[in-house]
Amino acid sequence: MNIVIVGAGAIGSLFGYFFSKENNVALIGRKTHIDAIKQNGLIIKGKTRKNVKISTFETIDEVPFMPDLLILTVKSYDTENAIKQTVGLIGENTFVMSLQNGLDNVEKIEKYVDRKRILACITTHGVVFFKPGVIEHTGIGKTVIGAIENKNIPIIENIANMLSKSGIKTTTSNDILKDIWIKAIVNSCINPITAIFRCKNGYLLENPVLEKIVEKICEESTNIAKTCKINVSYEDMIKKTKEVISDTNNNYSSMLQGVINNKKTEVGSINGIFVQKSKENNVESILNGVIVDFF
Ligand SMILES: NC(=O)c1ccc[n+]([C@@H]2O[C@H](COP(=O)([O-])OP(=O)(O)OC[C@H]3O[C@@H](n4cnc5c(N)ncnc54)[C@H](OP(=O)(O)O)[C@@H]3O)[C@@H](O)[C@H]2O)c1
Repeated sequence: MNIVIVGAGAIGSLFGYFFSKENNVALIGRKTHIDAIKQNGLIIKGKTRKNVKISTFETIDEVPFMPDLLILTVKSYDTENAIKQTVGLIGENTFVMSLQNGLDNVEKIEKYVDRKRILACITTHGVVFFKPGVIEHTGIGKTVIGAIENKNIPIIENIANMLSKSGIKTTTSNDILKDIWIKAIVNSCINPITAIFRCKNGYLLENPVLEKIVEKICEESTNIAKTCKINVSYEDMIKKTKEVISDTNNNYSSMLQGVINNKKTEVGSINGIFVQKSKENNVESILNGVIVDFF
């Protein structure tokens, strides 16, 4: 399969490596990262240790093929720009897959791509962009993929099998939109609070005040999701949120890393969308609102 990955930073470079074991892969990213990979190969540290040659390009004009699969791995606030820039690479038979967090990626992609050709993938693997040309695979996680509308298309099984075979254990989902909402509910509780209080994920369950705040955000985000016809319960969501906190207790969330490195965060695509949906559906979003205002 011909695959183009747009926004090769941490997660895009890691998945690029795993996909490249059996496919023709092109990474599109920023000049410094692309130049470093051209010079020394992509260096992966941590849970995966590799130094691999992989095709890299700065712009889509240089990519020598039309992809069967175009994967977006930019931060959610860059989705619209990235898809607009790559529209020339999206042919009639190209599938576009969002491998991102946030609730507004599909909406942005479908302005340019037929919904029937949009796929989504969520993963709990952890990857840190160490320096140009070097990423660190910090945590092994689970990966799920599904189609937004065309549920039973063979490409979903093909990608899941291909990734599993290459070392990224992947399952398929018949309701990937619900999975995206569930991940967003969990992220709406963990990410901003660790970023505001500058703590590791695990501290959210060690400090009873922060634990209470997490429970309240979870209740609010779950209620908002329900008004968007997402079939979730508070009991399941808080159980899941606490499981994720325990499983990642030693991690610094991506939002905290962003704040520390003075980078824009994805709060607008997570808590911001909960606020937007609450307004549309006339439900409360006091805590998500306070969080958005804080950032
Ligand atoms: N890292 C993880 O462990 C992980 C795990 C699960 C999900 N995710 C999700 O995956 C997405 C990507 O996260 P990440 O951590 O991989 O972010 P990242 O390291 O910042 O990678 C994104 C890269 O895309 C570049 N970029 C932005 N717009 C571009 C464009 N138009 N063309 C080419 N390159 C462009 C960015 O450059 P600039 O920085 O210069 O803008 C950056 O190098 C996010 O939604 C995140 O929540 C990440």
